[in-house]
Amino acid sequence: MELASSIQDLSNVLTNCGRVSPMQVEPENPHYKLNRGLAGRDVIRILVTGVAGFIGYHTAHRLLQLGKEVVGIDNLNPYYSVALKKDRLSQLTPFPNFSFVELDLREKVKTLELFQKFNFDSVIHLAAQAGVRYSLENPFVYVDSNVVGFLNILEGCRHSNVKHLVYASSSSVYGLNQKKPFSVSHNVDHPISMYAATKKANELMAHTYSYLYQIPTTGLRFFTVYGPWGRPDMAIFKFTEALLAGKTIDVYNYGKMKRDFTYIDDVVEGILRVCEHIPTPNPSWERSSRVPGKSSAPYRLYNMGNQNPVDLEELIRLLGRALGVEAKKKYLPLQAGDVPETYADCDDLKQEVGFKPTTPISVGIERFVLWYQTYYS
Ligand SMILES: NC(=O)c1ccc[n+]([C@@H]2O[C@H](COP(=O)([O-])OP(=O)(O)OC[C@H]3O[C@@H](n4cnc5c(N)ncnc54)[C@H](O)[C@@H]3O)[C@@H](O)[C@H]2O)c1
Repeated sequence: MELASSIQDLSNVLTNCGRVSPMQVEPENPHYKLNRGLAGRDVIRILVTGVAGFIGYHTAHRLLQLGKEVVGIDNLNPYYSVALKKDRLSQLTPFPNFSFVELDLREKVKTLELFQKFNFDSVIHLAAQAGVRYSLENPFVYVDSNVVGFLNILEGCRHSNVKHLVYASSSSVYGLNQKKPFSVSHNVDHPISMYAATKKANELMAHTYSYLYQIPTTGLRFFTVYGPWGRPDMAIFKFTEALLAGKTIDVYNYGKMKRDFTYIDDVVEGILRVCEHIPTPNPSWERSSRVPGKSSAPYRLYNMGNQNPVDLEELIRLLGRALGVEAKKKYLPLQAGDVPETYADCDDLKQEVGFKPTTPISVGIERFVLWYQTYYS
């Protein structure tokens, strides 16, 4: 099919080959037959957004090793080192089953054209403006990339034959919640950063499209993911930099901040398993508990965390040990927007998908440090 050259052309294209219209619920809708489409073609074609990012890179790498066809997109923005993003990409480009498209998801027409061109089986949407603290200073970029960008992804799924949209949410959505461990059955109406608010908005938008257009969607609330090729704006990376440079580490909430650090390999394993586990409509939800993480629509939410919160003091101790360096610390109060403790309840993930993260932080830190020292040597 010719690529649409204008918005009008594109809307004609979409009208001619669109997904079902709102509320056309088919009891025998083939999307609900597990993996139907995934078996319908010799090679499964998956869109990974944010492929030059930390989690996107690892996810794509694993899919490529498994022989899937991966189309990766990223806008390579300079929020952190573009060189690191390009170095991650250079690990993917040797795979013949990998294609990279430099694309900004805020661009509606180009994003819809991408969906038309590639006819994806599944979408793993990881592109976003990440980071809690940056969102205090730069709220607009979060709405642009995370809300408008996500709407463009939903529209792409709606107007093509995507069997499952898996997207990144965040533990940040738990905001002011006190009850721990955090569960997807808890209400999350009290975010405390624009980052968290956009992630919660994504969950609401996904539900709307799952309900209106019967698009199976699964949101994953990641809990502080770390590991090799990690993000330079995150604590483990910054602490490592500071320790090796002999600089003082800023320790917020006087060291009492706790995070449920989750190792990247566990997260990738979880994403791939969830991808195969396509949600179906659940009519009994209406009559039963109506818990937030489920729905009568083909919509699911899961926590993905290590279920073992670690405080900053312990994290610094482990990093110092792995690096063979004594830490110099400066104790500071809790920063605006930060949740003091995160702790995941992953029982739903375990029961329904048969998996939950397990890598101990001590093992993950050793692997991160090994990568860091090699990469920056
Ligand atoms: N890493 C974590 O601890 C963590 C925790 C919770 C949620 N998440 C979420 O998981 C996802 C992946 O996180 P990550 O740690 O890999 O972050 P990352 O910043 O390393 O990766 C995101 C990628 O998306 C790209 N991107 C941003 N805006 C874009 C746009 N408008 N168009 C195209 N590409 C764009 C960036 O260039 C980047 O390469 C994000 O949605 C993030 O919010 C991450």
